[in-house]
Amino acid sequence: MKLFDVYPLFDITIERGQGCRVWDTQGLEYLDLYGGHAVISIGHSHPHYIEKVTEQLQRLGFYSNSVQNPLQRTLAERLGKVCGYDDWQLFLINSGAEANENALKLASFYNGRTRILSLEKAFHGRTSLAVEATQNPKIIAPVNQNGHVTYLPLNDLTAWEREIQKGDVCACIIECIQGVGGIRMVSAEFLQGLRKLCDQHNTVLICDEIQCGYGRSGRFFAHQHLNVTPDLITVAKGIANGFPMGAVLISPKFAPVYGQLGTTFGGNHLACAAALAVLDVMEEEQLVQNAAEVGTYLMENIRSLRLPHVTDVRGRGLMIGVELDIPYKEVRNRLIYEQHCFTGCSGTTTLRLLPPLCLTTADVDDFCQRLAKVLKS
Ligand SMILES: Cc1ncc(COP(=O)(O)O)c(C=O)c1O
Repeated sequence: MKLFDVYPLFDITIERGQGCRVWDTQGLEYLDLYGGHAVISIGHSHPHYIEKVTEQLQRLGFYSNSVQNPLQRTLAERLGKVCGYDDWQLFLINSGAEANENALKLASFYNGRTRILSLEKAFHGRTSLAVEATQNPKIIAPVNQNGHVTYLPLNDLTAWEREIQKGDVCACIIECIQGVGGIRMVSAEFLQGLRKLCDQHNTVLICDEIQCGYGRSGRFFAHQHLNVTPDLITVAKGIANGFPMGAVLISPKFAPVYGQLGTTFGGNHLACAAALAVLDVMEEEQLVQNAAEVGTYLMENIRSLRLPHVTDVRGRGLMIGVELDIPYKEVRNRLIYEQHCFTGCSGTTTLRLLPPLCLTTADVDDFCQRLAKVLKS
C-alpha cells in the first residue's frame, strides 16, 4: 500500500526538535516560526513533557471512558483555574474539527435550532458540520453542504443583527483571530454586540480558540482581550503539544446530554498526561506572558526594519500575519530552503507566524535577519 496523497509536501524530513528548533535527516537545523501548525506550544521535546508522558505510558496508556479517569478531572480543575472558568465543564475529544462538531451539536441540543452563523473566510475544520461552517473555496465537502450555515462579514454587527433577530439562529461560531482566513481580528465592539444579541435571542455564542487560544494571543484565550464570555469554547492544537487532543469548554448553563456525545480515544490517560505537562510548563515558564512580550517585540521589529514588500504586520501575541505585496509562496519557500526557517501562510499574500510560545527575543532577532535576507534579494 502507498499513502493517499492529500498534501503537497516539502522535500524535507524532520526527525528531531528542541525548543524552537528542528533538525532534518541531513542534520540541517531549522528555526521554527510555524510550530508544526500552531501545535507546539511549550517547545519541541521539552524534558518535563517527555518525563510525564513516559511515566504515564509506563503505568497505563489507555483505558476506556466507561470507568473513572482521575487525570481528566485533574485536567478540568487545572484548566478551569488557569483560564478563569472554574465553574465550567470540560468534554475531551481528539481534534479541533471534532471539538467544533461537538460544540455545534451541543448548541443545537440546547435551543433545538439548526441554523448557524459563521464569519466570511472562517476555517473550523474538515468534518461534517465543521467543513460547512468553513468558508474557503479550497475546503469543501459537497455531501455536507446542507445549507445550515450563513457566512457574514467580519465586524459588521448590523449584518449579524439582521440574521439573529429572525429568532431561528442556533449558534454563532467565531475565531477571534482568524488563522487560515489571514490573521483577521474580531473587534471588541463587534463581539460585545454579538454577545448581547445572542443573549436576547437565545443563540449560543461559540469561540473557536483552536488556533488563537491556549496562550498564543498573549492571554489564555483570544476572546479575553475583548471582554466577552462565550457559551462554548473549542480548543485543540497546543493543548497537548502534539499529542492529539481537542476539547469543548462548556459554560454552566448547559446540562449533560447523556448518550449523545462520546468518544473512544478522547481524554485517554496518555493525552491527559501530555495536557497536564503542558499546563505545568506554561505556568512554570510563564509562556502566556512570554507570548505577549515576545510577540510584541517580533511585530515591532519587523515593522521597524521597513522591509521591501511588507505592507502590514498584524496579530496578537505569537499569532502574527506579515502581509506582502507579492505572493507568499516564493518568500516562504526561500525562507525554508535558503534560510532554513519554517513559517506558515494564509490566502495568497500573508506569511503566518505561529511559533512555539517559548520563542525568545534572540530567536526573533535571528528570524528578522533571515527574513530581511530573503526580502532584500
Ligand atoms: C481555527 C481552527 N479551527 C479548527 C481547526 C481544525 O482542527 P483539526 O485539524 O485539529 O481538526 C483548525 C485547524 O487548523 C483551526 O485553525
